[in-house]
Amino acid sequence: MSGDGHPALMNTTQSWDPILYDDRARFVSTLAKDDLVDLLAPGPDDHVLDLGCGTGDLAILIAARGARVVGVDASAAMIAAARAKAPGISFSVADGQSLGFDKEFTAVFSNAALHWMRRPDDVAAGMARALRPGGRLVVEFGGHGCCAQARAAIGTALGEAGMDPSAWEPWYFPRLGAYTALLERHGFEVRAASLFDRPTPIGGEDGLGTWMRLFANRLLDELGDRAQAVVRRAQELARAALFSDGVWSLDYVRLRVSARTA
Ligand code: BEZ
Repeated sequence: MSGDGHPALMNTTQSWDPILYDDRARFVSTLAKDDLVDLLAPGPDDHVLDLGCGTGDLAILIAARGARVVGVDASAAMIAAARAKAPGISFSVADGQSLGFDKEFTAVFSNAALHWMRRPDDVAAGMARALRPGGRLVVEFGGHGCCAQARAAIGTALGEAGMDPSAWEPWYFPRLGAYTALLERHGFEVRAASLFDRPTPIGGEDGLGTWMRLFANRLLDELGDRAQAVVRRAQELARAALFSDGVWSLDYVRLRVSARTA
């Protein structure tokens, strides 16, 4: 129970379904793929760590530009799917919060993964350790304000259903200044950083529900037979802000940073 008597929700680890992810969430890699990989500018002399590689789509793009790539992800199911897609790339299961690499890579790359790691100091320390001197870091993930309207609607729906809305979120969405300062504390020199809106379409009348099934599935599991009512109510609450012309457009905010080690 939370302090105010509402049943508390645990923010336990997300579980991933690679088939659903590739089918419904391909936008996560598609929306970033060209310009983020261009910013990394991988080439044949590179050895790149793709941190939180998911089902491997961006690791494959990076490898296609000639770099050697190692993809890691905390989900064994996602790694199995990545290996099936690209048997020539090294993919393995690893927690980004306890990376064990030591000066092995010329670059660390990450798309849409760091917001799932709630110990950012441990992540930054591991990324810094993994890089050779002068190594590059190119990362993009959810930044401050990401999905604020969707999250507020879900929180309100949970509160109305008698649940504690304060503790369900599993994400880390830092402000730009806080994140660049964190990287600097770990020895990175930040070259460029931006926080920007990326309205993200997710089709169909039930788009916010689809998004919740993809990215808030532990919450829905915990809610059990109350889940459908919470999804329905959250959609009612968020509809005016996020739904028009038959499409949900989620209020994504991205934080993109490029940096180097000394
Ligand atoms: C994403 O994967 O991009 C994402 C997931 C959950 C919340 C916000 C963004």
